Amino acid sequence: MLPCGMSQSPSAGPPPAGIRVKGLFLLPVSLSLEVSVGKATTIYAVNGTEILLPCTFSSCFGFQDLHFWWSYNTSDTFRTLIDGTVKNEKSDPKVKFKNDDRITLEGSTKEKMNNISILLRNLEFSDTGKYTCHVQNPKENNFQHQATIFLQVVDKLEEVDNTVTLIILGVVGGVIGLLILILLVKKFIAFIIKKTQEKKKECLVSSSGNDNTENGLPGSKAEEKPPIKV
Ligand SMILES: *[C@@H]1O[C@H](CO)[C@@H](O)[C@H](O)[C@H]1NC(C)=O
Ligand SMILES: *[C@@H]1O[C@H](CO)[C@@H](O)[C@H](O)[C@H]1NC(C)=O
Ligand SMILES: *[C@@H]1O[C@H](CO)[C@@H](O)[C@H](O)[C@H]1NC(C)=O
Repeated sequence: MLPCGMSQSPSAGPPPAGIRVKGLFLLPVSLSLEVSVGKATTIYAVNGTEILLPCTFSSCFGFQDLHFWWSYNTSDTFRTLIDGTVKNEKSDPKVKFKNDDRITLEGSTKEKMNNISILLRNLEFSDTGKYTCHVQNPKENNFQHQATIFLQVVDKLEEVDNTVTLIILGVVGGVIGLLILILLVKKFIAFIIKKTQEKKKECLVSSSGNDNTENGLPGSKAEEKPPIKV
């Protein structure tokens, strides 16, 4: 995110895609207000339990009478779950509409927490779907920002047995480590053998090279070479 001071200023050349309202060219405000549902795009939750659907926003211009709402969307339904406003940065959100008693607004908008997460209780399988957190800030030309999270209500959570994973990883790691070790030892042994052989060769070469007596002997190597064909 760019700091506020860096959002496009009119002097900085032609402004990129903005919105034209009443002849004024409004600068894009997407850099100023951001809505986030965290890193997870899909949340799994067990039926009958409760789940917090996270949503936070950040606004560097500050806000006044901020409008927020959560919507629910599947392929064949769309409904607003909760709707409300936040007067200013020193107040907590006020819920104006809620379509389900199982939903409560959690979090706080005081002290820059800007947290408008919702808690869903007694989850049913039919709660599976897309949940979108919307924020609209009148101070920023009512530009709307949103972030979506997918909730999947399941029978039971797949058990992520970390010990098994760790054991597997350990074994795999160990095997790989062992293979590398074996390879290294093999390389090392090969290196030693090569070095030793080279040394021996060197000895042979030097000894044969220096050994002048050998050349004088009948049947020396030079004579054994077949004549070079032209
Ligand atoms: C979740 O759904 C399953 C299957 O319908 C049911 O057996 C189970 O009791 C439910 N769990 C809770 C906590 O409601
Ligand atoms: C609901 O989700 C579908 C599928 O992603 C999307 O095409 C549609 O525009 C959404 N509806 C609304 C009202 O956001
Ligand atoms: C938002 O508020 C809820 C409820 O207090 C809390 O569990 C959650 O961690 C908060 N999220 C962030 C990002 O602070």
